[in-house]
Amino acid sequence: MNIKNSPIGFFDSGVGGLSVMKEAIAIMPNEDFIYFGDSQNAPYGTKELEEVRNLTLNVADFFMKKKVKAIVVACNTATSAAIELLRDKYKDTIIIGIEPALKPAVKLNRKGNIIIMATPMTLREKKFKSLMEKYKNDCSIVSLPCAGLVEFIEQGILEGKELENYLKEKLKPYLSEDIAAIVLGCTHYPFIKNALSKVVGHDVPLIDGGVGTSHELKRKLIEKACLTDSKEKGKIIIYNSTNDNKIIDFCYNLINAENSR
Ligand code: DGL
Repeated sequence: MNIKNSPIGFFDSGVGGLSVMKEAIAIMPNEDFIYFGDSQNAPYGTKELEEVRNLTLNVADFFMKKKVKAIVVACNTATSAAIELLRDKYKDTIIIGIEPALKPAVKLNRKGNIIIMATPMTLREKKFKSLMEKYKNDCSIVSLPCAGLVEFIEQGILEGKELENYLKEKLKPYLSEDIAAIVLGCTHYPFIKNALSKVVGHDVPLIDGGVGTSHELKRKLIEKACLTDSKEKGKIIIYNSTNDNKIIDFCYNLINAENSR
């Protein structure tokens, strides 16, 4: 089989990576996509590093069996834990990771704090520390670990009082000051943009890495001459480690929903 027509594998601890995959589908509609959500083991962000590494390597092996031409680790947490291991192990496969989109937030040059919402593991790991190093002298950056937030989204709770109360509580220390932007450093969070805007105000930019990551994937596919030459709309297949059809249906709805844009 010509590698150009192989699928692209997208992976996350659960449903979050779909916020990235939908952007990739938008710019490369003729590619075939396989999505694997590890909802059985979500959340990753509060686990031990070694466990997340092992879970990530298992999913990569699954993708290898599916003969993917590229793997997108559409999970900030798994990227910070395991991207180097994956690149070492699968030297012939395109491996793309994601990190909090701090650069576009800094570029906006707005007054106030840039708040980075992410999982405890993402904010603790060295990948994030070196990202902070780059920008810490240019602006005021606040790291906000959000343990418990992924669980709302995994349960399909994307709006409502309970979620808004969680967000209000988390953001309380910063609401009386200017907020320059909020960086959504976890791929689950774009699905709760509406609830977040209600809490911080609709004028605060909410920035995620979905578009940037998808463009990087496209660039790499072009560079390696792996972009499909199909003229037809590609296939999308979704797997979930729970094998629960309700979750899989929810995933298809998230791809079609407008709420992460
Ligand atoms: N979507 C994952 C991320 O981007 C969530 C991690 C988790 O399961 O805690 O970090």
